[in-house]
Amino acid sequence: MSAMPLKKHARGADREQLRLEFAASAEQERPKLASKIAARRSSREKAGPSPVKTTREKITAETMARAQREISVSEFFAKNRHLLGFDNKRKALLTTIKEAVDNSLDACEEAGILPDLAVGIEQVEEERFRVRVRDNGPGIVKDQIPRIFGKLLYGSKFHRLKMSRGQQGIGISAAGMYGLLTTGKSVKITSRTGPTKQAHYYELQIDTKKNEPTIVTDRTVDVEWPHGTEVEIELVASYNKGRQSVDEYLELTAIANPHTQISYRPPGGEAVDFPRASEQLPPPTQAIKPHPYGIELGVLIKMLHDTKSRWLSGFLSQEFSRVSSRTAEEICAQAKLSPRSQPRRIARDEAETLYKAIQGAKLMAPPTNCLAPIGPRQILSGLLKGINAEFYAAATRDPAVYRGNPFQIEVGLAYGGELGPDASQANSAEAAGPAESNGNGKTREPAATASRVIRFANRVPLLYQQSACCIFKSVIDTDWRRYGVSQPGGSVPQAPMVIMVHMASVWVPFTSESKEAIADYDEIRKEIKLALQECGRKLQAFLNRRRRQKYDGQRRNIFERYIGEIVNACAAIKRINREELRTNLMAMSQKVTARADEEYDDEGRVVDKSKGKAEPASNGDALTSEYGENTVVVGQTTPA
Ligand SMILES: Nc1ncnc2c1ncn2[C@@H]1O[C@H](COP(=O)(O)OP(=O)(O)OP(=O)(O)O)[C@@H](O)[C@H]1O
Ligand SMILES: [Mg+2]
Repeated sequence: MSAMPLKKHARGADREQLRLEFAASAEQERPKLASKIAARRSSREKAGPSPVKTTREKITAETMARAQREISVSEFFAKNRHLLGFDNKRKALLTTIKEAVDNSLDACEEAGILPDLAVGIEQVEEERFRVRVRDNGPGIVKDQIPRIFGKLLYGSKFHRLKMSRGQQGIGISAAGMYGLLTTGKSVKITSRTGPTKQAHYYELQIDTKKNEPTIVTDRTVDVEWPHGTEVEIELVASYNKGRQSVDEYLELTAIANPHTQISYRPPGGEAVDFPRASEQLPPPTQAIKPHPYGIELGVLIKMLHDTKSRWLSGFLSQEFSRVSSRTAEEICAQAKLSPRSQPRRIARDEAETLYKAIQGAKLMAPPTNCLAPIGPRQILSGLLKGINAEFYAAATRDPAVYRGNPFQIEVGLAYGGELGPDASQANSAEAAGPAESNGNGKTREPAATASRVIRFANRVPLLYQQSACCIFKSVIDTDWRRYGVSQPGGSVPQAPMVIMVHMASVWVPFTSESKEAIADYDEIRKEIKLALQECGRKLQAFLNRRRRQKYDGQRRNIFERYIGEIVNACAAIKRINREELRTNLMAMSQKVTARADEEYDDEGRVVDKSKGKAEPASNGDALTSEYGENTVVVGQTTPA
């Protein structure tokens, strides 16, 4: 249809004229349009139905049902490997080493063996590495090897409540699966359970469809080591030094595990040894039963169904911690249920009443022999070994509970020394006394350095997802200015400081399967902050003392600069013995600024020079010093 030319700004009669013209033209066009539509329809009929309409299959519930399939856990994680810490090549190398080392340390400690580990990374091609981790642990029995290394969600730690590095039963098999997916190479395992036994050697692959191991090789071999396990995985990865590297992970592991010895051979580099700093194994931990306060109703119903106990009272006292037979009877009475009723027969609404009665019962906090904190002395020795600072402090909190799971928070702090100068201290010394000049009339101001936060969960360093972690959030949430350290709004303290935080728990609530960050539970955050504040107060005592000492040193410099002038002025007024006046004035200056001469021992106490070095005060497992319990001062220099 040809478009009608519309007149612009048509008004009144013009507009009526326009309407008539348009109607007449439409009348003329109508038969032409009808014949066009008819022609188009007949050609469409000849060509048959349109392809779009016919290929669109009708989707029904039945066709959808045909597409439903079970997803194997291995298939799921092969697709979502980032959930397990294999999202990039650099991280893949770290995760692989971490999973193997964590398993080795767990196995050694469980068997009461001081861990002795060999970690090697060999570069095979540009982006291909062969990783080998060997331990002196108890070894693995032959039958278990295929499933441990070739099946996801298979392990000994998931179903128990006990502190250990591993907890999910995914770690090492996921590393093997990543290796297989990226290089097609099998995982190689050699394990020996004792000096009189032969070592078993396996080459395994994981069948991702079935989540089952495929055995490629199975034979016995001779090895020179008496017991232990060696795992070898080839994978596509990249090796870098620095932050978030394998090197950093091993350094931090050595700090949190001073009882461990690791010999490390990086690709193409010199071997590095992390020697043992303590011959003492962490105390053995006991597996505990769940505490009733943390249980959820659904879990209670499932436990009632699965229990082997015949009576309800027996179920309560045997399946939970801190429930005695008497308390169990009281709970039953409160819930108006017979202690002799059969757990399997408890109905859903009865279970709910029982649940409420349990939550209302007075129960002791869960036992804490399931936890093995590092301890303040070990934290200090780990920090002293790994970080050259000037002041060290540590704090271990008493155990607490989140969702019924016992946990314990520990903090270590290292300040100053080789970590660098503190810009805020330079400023506060200025405020307290005369400014330090660099000769150009400008004050010297060291650049502010952000503190480094090192995080550990069950003695394992956490290197990724810092800002998602409850530990990091708690550090930011703490008011460090109160302790004399600068902290611009909403950031980590700006000071040459390393803040180490360790959470020990029977179940660490990680934010994902890659075990990189701790979830933000209120109870956990509160404990971390309290431990940080404890160390902050010790640091404050140290900084105050140092600031006063520095101030007195600066005052003395000024006094001495003017003593010569005073002597000359006095001599001009009166005949005096200049030398005598100078000596007396100098003695006076030394006396009023005596703090500048103080020297401190390793525990930060003033050394009485007439008596010599003071004996360190030891309070059981703790070091006590001028700055509080569990503090150490190293290489104390008297500021000029
Ligand atoms: N070097 C080893 N020596 C002895 N046993 C081992 C060794 N490595 C693994 N295991 C056993 O294999 C199991 C599975 O290990 P895997 O790393 O897959 O899971 P996990 O350590 O239990 O948990 P996570 O997934 O959190 O690491 C462990 O629970 C442990 O019993
Ligand atoms: Mg593991």
